[in-house]
Amino acid sequence: MPLVPMRTMLDHAAENDYGIAALNVNNMEQIQAIMMAAEETDSPVIIQASRGARKYTNDAYLRHLMLAAVELYPKIPIVMHLDHGNSAETCFSAIEQGFTSVMMDGSLSEDGKVPSSYEYNAEVTKKVAQAAHAAGVSVEGEIGALGGIEDGHGAGLSEEEAQEHLTDPAQAEQFVADTGVDALAVAIGTSHGAYKFKKKPTGDVLKMSLIEEIHKRLPNTHLVMHGSSSVPQELQDIINQYGGDIKQTYGVPVEEIQRGIKHGVRKINVDTDSRLAITGAIRKVFAESPEQFDPRKYLTPAREAMKQVCIARMTAFGQAGNAGKIKPNTCKEMVSFYK
Ligand code: G3H
Ligand code: 13P
Ligand code: ZN
Repeated sequence: MPLVPMRTMLDHAAENDYGIAALNVNNMEQIQAIMMAAEETDSPVIIQASRGARKYTNDAYLRHLMLAAVELYPKIPIVMHLDHGNSAETCFSAIEQGFTSVMMDGSLSEDGKVPSSYEYNAEVTKKVAQAAHAAGVSVEGEIGALGGIEDGHGAGLSEEEAQEHLTDPAQAEQFVADTGVDALAVAIGTSHGAYKFKKKPTGDVLKMSLIEEIHKRLPNTHLVMHGSSSVPQELQDIINQYGGDIKQTYGVPVEEIQRGIKHGVRKINVDTDSRLAITGAIRKVFAESPEQFDPRKYLTPAREAMKQVCIARMTAFGQAGNAGKIKPNTCKEMVSFYK
C-alpha cells in the first residue's frame, strides 16, 4: 500500500482506544528498526523526520528509504510525517517531497527558539492546514510551547521556561476552531531530549490532568504528546557502563502515557529513547571489541536495540495488532473529506 495520511491512522486509533508512537528517523537503520518492530507486532507506524533529519539525510534519500519500507512491508500502513515544521515553506517543501502529514509548529517563532503570539501561530497553522488539506495531507499544530528542541542545548526553552508555557485548554479549543488541524500537540510539562525531570515526575510537573481537561473540550481532536521518551534507567546505565556520561535523569513514565491514551492522546513522539538505545549498543561494541572496524558489527546491534524500544512502545501504546485492521487510503482520497 502507498504511504497513508496520518488522519486515517489517528481516526482508527481513536475509534479503538489506542495510541501510536511517532518515531523519529535520520538514517536507514532507524527506518529498518521501526519496520522490523512493526512487522513483528503488526503495528501501523508513524515515521517522522525533523528539519534537522531532512538536512542530515537529504530529502531524496529519505523519500526513497521510505518508499523502500512501503515496498518491503506492503501490509503495514506507514505515515511519513514532518516533525516540527518551523514555517509554511518548510511544510510545503515536505508535501512536495511526498510527506503524507506535516506538523506546523507555530508555537515558537520561525527560528524555533522563542514562543510566538497566538495570532501568528493560528494564522500560519491555518495557512498550512488549508494548503495541506487541499492535497489530502494531514496537519498537526501545537499550542503551548515545549522545552529543549534540538536536545535542549542552545535552542528552545529550558525546563523551567517550558513549565511557564503549558497549554491553556480554552485557547486550545479556540486554536482548533481557528485552524482546522487534524491533531494538536499540547504542552503539559514534558520537554525534548534526555533531561526532562530531575526525579520521577509527579502531577505537579507532568500535568496529565491538563490532557483530561483539553480532551473534555476537544473530544474529537487527536491529541499529541511530544517529548515523550521514557528515558529508561537501563539505557542510561548501558551508556554509562561503556564510557558515556549521561547524568541521572527521568523521562515520561509509560503508565502516564497510557493514562493519556485513555483521554484522547493518539500520537506519542519518541526520539530520545531510540537515540539512547543506539548509542548504548554502539558503545558496548566499541568497548568490548576495540579491534572491530566494520560498521555492520556495531550498526546491527544498534538497530536491534532500537527495534526493542519500538516493540516495547508499540505494545504499551496499543498499536500492536492493528496494522491489518486499518482500511488504508491515500492523500488523494482524503481531498474530498476536507471539502
Ligand atoms: O523534536 C525533536 C526531535 O527529537 C528531533 O530532534 O531536531 O535533533 O532532529 P532534532
Ligand atoms: P523525546 O526527546 O522525548 O524523544 O521527544 C521527541 C519529540 O517530541 C519529537 O518531536
Ligand atoms: Zn517534539
